[in-house]
Parts: sequence; structure tokens; C-alpha cells
Amino acid sequence: MCGIVGAAAQRNVTGILLEGLKRLEYRGYDSAGLALLDETGQLQRRRAQGKVAEVENKLAQQPTKGQLGIAHTRWATHGQPSEQNAHPHVSAPGVAVVHNGIIENYLELKAQLQSAGYAFTSETDTEVVAHLVHQVSQQQANLTQAVHQVLTQLEGAYALAVIDQAHPDQLICARQGSPLVIGVGIGEYFCASDPLALLQVTDRFIYLEEGDFACLTSESCQIYSAQGEPVERPIVQWEHGQQVAEKGVFKHFMLKEIYEQPEVLAATLEGRLGAEQVLPQILGSQATQLLPQVQQIQLVACGTSYHAGMVARYWIEKLAGVPCAIEVASEYRYREVVVMPNTLFVTLSQSGETADTLAALRFAKTAGYLASLAICNVPGSSLVRESDLSLLTHAGPEIGVASTKAFTTQLVALLLLTLALRQIQQPAQPDAVEQELVAALRSLPRLAQETLALDGQIEQLAQAFAEKHHALFLGRGSHYPIALEGALKLKEISYIHAEAYPAGELKHGPLALVDKDMPVIAVAPKDDLVDKLKSNLQEVRARGGELYVFADPLTSMTPEEGMQVIHLPAVHEVLAPIIYTLPLQLLAYHVAVIKGTDVDQPRNLAKSVTVE
Ligand code: G6P
Repeated sequence: MCGIVGAAAQRNVTGILLEGLKRLEYRGYDSAGLALLDETGQLQRRRAQGKVAEVENKLAQQPTKGQLGIAHTRWATHGQPSEQNAHPHVSAPGVAVVHNGIIENYLELKAQLQSAGYAFTSETDTEVVAHLVHQVSQQQANLTQAVHQVLTQLEGAYALAVIDQAHPDQLICARQGSPLVIGVGIGEYFCASDPLALLQVTDRFIYLEEGDFACLTSESCQIYSAQGEPVERPIVQWEHGQQVAEKGVFKHFMLKEIYEQPEVLAATLEGRLGAEQVLPQILGSQATQLLPQVQQIQLVACGTSYHAGMVARYWIEKLAGVPCAIEVASEYRYREVVVMPNTLFVTLSQSGETADTLAALRFAKTAGYLASLAICNVPGSSLVRESDLSLLTHAGPEIGVASTKAFTTQLVALLLLTLALRQIQQPAQPDAVEQELVAALRSLPRLAQETLALDGQIEQLAQAFAEKHHALFLGRGSHYPIALEGALKLKEISYIHAEAYPAGELKHGPLALVDKDMPVIAVAPKDDLVDKLKSNLQEVRARGGELYVFADPLTSMTPEEGMQVIHLPAVHEVLAPIIYTLPLQLLAYHVAVIKGTDVDQPRNLAKSVTVE
């Protein structure tokens, strides 16, 4: 998704802006650009279709430097990826704007500006903002006030950064519906779509609230609320260290993040397990009164996070006996929903900024839910700030577009939530099931490590997929969502068409697709459904399908003609979805590497989808 970086400093900011853009590359983009006020106070702009490196090339050919600037990576929404549509957009003589989000009423604004004599050079919705700032500035000499007046005319979601050569020391930024943070330096201020873009210059951040706008200079930062009142927002210290945005010894961020799972699973459990039970206060003191009232759960999420919620539905109903529904946010937010009394509304999100999930939360807050809970990986994110309760995953920043460690840590958090709910529903102590699961959770990091040790075998298996165009993933029960997640990983990064089915549905349609060209991947932990799964797999073999099975040794599934089997470490059946995800991540990764695709930034996809 689009990324913004801005800087107001007393040194040349060209390198800071470029480095910021590179650190935002993970979000997904198709063109990039920057604008700054040069040493003579003139606005300079360099833009290019493609990677940030193309902008660097242009700068090498036509160097420029300055102490105030804005930069952008664009993920096309209005108008194709091209240099002409790349940001910053300008309005003569010297206004430049970068924008993340969608201005919904841009056609109306464009018509008004065109009739006032403004000429448009791009197909974007953003260009209206540049011209509006210019237009309003004719009457309003204060740039902050001029931008505020423009904001009142905009409908939709945006994060914006604006500079104007008539105000050579000011950078104005604003957010409404799309994320934006301010980076606090020493004698310099920055803004960016997320803190990662600025870690090379600061570790102190101010998270703007919805509707906030701010005027940054090298020496000051004045924030205003949507109503234009000066406000103070807290400065938050970045806790994750610098090294997180580096690949280290790994070839790709995705592989690094897959390998970090033992560590981040442990981090997500840390401080949340007692000797024999989940600590009751994991959701904070407010939850102590709230949780006993919960009679239903509604989970809402997008993409990989949605799959985590699907697994949780099995857990919450089985272990806590609480009815649980799950829906994708983009559907949920536009549906007439019936809210049962005492329903807890739970959102799941790695970024905490996904537009549909946030919109679903905002709708839910008006719909009569008992309370809202965000399970999220980013502490200061919009989702966390706007929810009543939060349960943070401690995956650390995830850079690869295809989510890996965020997913497995979400599963851990969801299992902790399940057990916290179980304590209320089944207060008898001691609870043998909980004791067993707490012990199993403690062994999770070790089991993840043992599973990752199978990487070499999985890499070999991946060779068989590189020439395929389709693949089918099968699972049953709580492993059906894991099959979905495996299929999603494969299609996201290797572009192989992959589908997932609950294995019991095979004969209701997908079996028609099975032949030697359709590899079938199955996850087969030792659970109550494994014998049924085995029968389903026989149906595949009988049709000449090639099977690749990740199985528990106790299932007694062994390799044979047409069926390759990789045994995973024995794992408690409730925790198996977490462990069985790992080989599917590795399989997708190795297939993508063999195919030579862009693993960390797959085509057309964005890490943080901050527009609808
Ligand atoms: C995008 C990402 C996915 C992610 C989904 C939801 O599509 O590419 O990896 O699962 O958004 O994101 P969230 O941050 O809300 O979990």
C-alpha cells in the first residue's frame, strides 16, 4: 500500500527520504517519488515507475538536495502505475503533496478546480489536494490553516504530507483513516506511514489520532485535532530495536520471519502463563468484569488474520463452550447484522491498520456489542487504540507481505483468549485440560524449532511444484483453515493457483480436478478426524493424484507410490494447527524461490491494506 515519508531538518534529507522509502517497500508499491525544496528554495521533484532504485537513478542524473521534503511509494488505485501518476503531485508554483488512501469525492473537486482554471496532469485522486491547497492559499496565508480548510472538503480516507515553497520551513501532515506517525528527532521532525521508515533517524514516535493534522518544522511540532484545536499527543519509545528491519543472514524477510517463529511464539507467551493456567489478567483489569458477561464471540479479520480466526472458532466452541462466529471484515462491514446480547467483538490484525477491519470495528461500536477486543501485533495502531481491550502478539515487525510469524502468534493469542474464557465458563479448579494445554504451550517454541529442522526435506519437495499451475490443499476440522492458509501462501508468493477444501468436501466437486498435474497437499495431525482424512486421501490416490502429506508419526502414514509423507514432531492436537502451518509456509517459500518470484513483495499485493 502507499507509503509516505516526510522530513523537516537542518541537514540534507534526500538520503533520509530514500532510505525511508526503501524501508516502506515491504508494503507493496509500483512507483515512487520525492519532492524537496532545494538550496535556492525551489521545489524539485523526481519520480519513476517501478522501484525506489529508479528514483535514485534519476537523482544520480539530476542531483538535488534540501532540508525539507516529502516522498512516496504508490500502490495504484486511481490510474495505472506510471511516472505521471506517481506522487508527489504538484500545483504550480510550488505546492507538493503525497497521499495514502482514497479521496472519494475527487471527481466533484476536480470539476470545480478545472472550472477555476487548474490543469491536471495525472489520473489520480491526489492531484486535487495539491490544487486545492494552492487555491485556498490564495486567501489563507497560513499554510497549516490552508491545509485544514482543504481537509474539511475531502471525503474518504487519507494520510497526507504537504510542502509549499512559499513556506520553506514547514511540512504539514494529516491523517484520517490511513496511518501516519510523527518521528521526533533532535532538531528535526519526520512523518511516515509507519515507524519502520524512520528507524534510521529516530526511535521516538507520536501516533496521530483520527482527524489530526500537524505542522512540522525542524524545531517544532504542533498537532491539531480535527476541529483545529491545538492538542498534545504522547511520545512513544520504539521498543523493537533496529535490527528488525534487516534481513540478516537470510535471503528474504519471509524466510527470516518463518525462522523467528520459535522466538516470537515464546515472546507472545511470556508473562501470560502461570504454573498450571493462563494468567487471568492477560486482557487487563477491565476484562475481569467484562469476560464473565460474554455469551458469544464475533471474530472479524482479513486475509491471513481471518484464517487465524477460523481456527479460533474451533477452539472457542470446543474448549470454552462459547458460540463463536467469524467473518471477513469487507463483508461484515456492509451487512445487516443481528447482534446477540453480550457478544464480544474481536478483531484480528497484524498491522492494526487494515481499512476493512477498522471500519468493521467502528461499525461494531455502534451496533450494541458488549465490548471490543483487538488481537494485534502493533501496539500503537488504530485498531488497538480504538478497541476497549487489546491482546498484543509479540511477533515484532513483519516485513514480508505474506504473513507468517504474525499468523502463528495470533493463534497463540487466540488460544490464550480461549483458555481465559474457559476459566470463566468452567470455574472448577484444577482444570486438567487447561493444565495439559498450558504444558503443551510451553513446549511450542521447541516444537516449532524441530519442525523448522525439516526445511531441507521441504525444499526438496518444492521441486515438484515449480512446473505446476494448480494445487489443492486439504485439511479437516481446525486444520481446514490451515489448508486455506497454506493455499493462500502458495498463491500469494509463487502465483500458482491454489485452493483449499475441507477434505470431506472433496467428493462434492474438487475431486473432478484431480489428476497427475494437480498436486494435493494434506495436513494430517493425530486427531479424531485422521481416519476420515485417510479415506479422503485414498479417493485422491484412486484418481492418480500426487499426494504430499504432512503427518503425525502416530498416524502410521508412510511414504508409498504416489504419496510423499513428511513426519512432523508429535504435538498436542489442539496446538497442531500452529505447528502444521510451518511446513506450508516453507513449501510456499521454496516454490517461490525456485520460480524466481519476488518473495517479499509479490506483484499486486500490499502488506498493509489501508484502503478499501
Ligand atoms: C494484506 C496482507 C496479508 C494480511 C491482510 C490482513 O492482504 O498482504 O498478509 O493477512 O492484509 O492484514 P492485517 O494487518 O489486518 O492482519
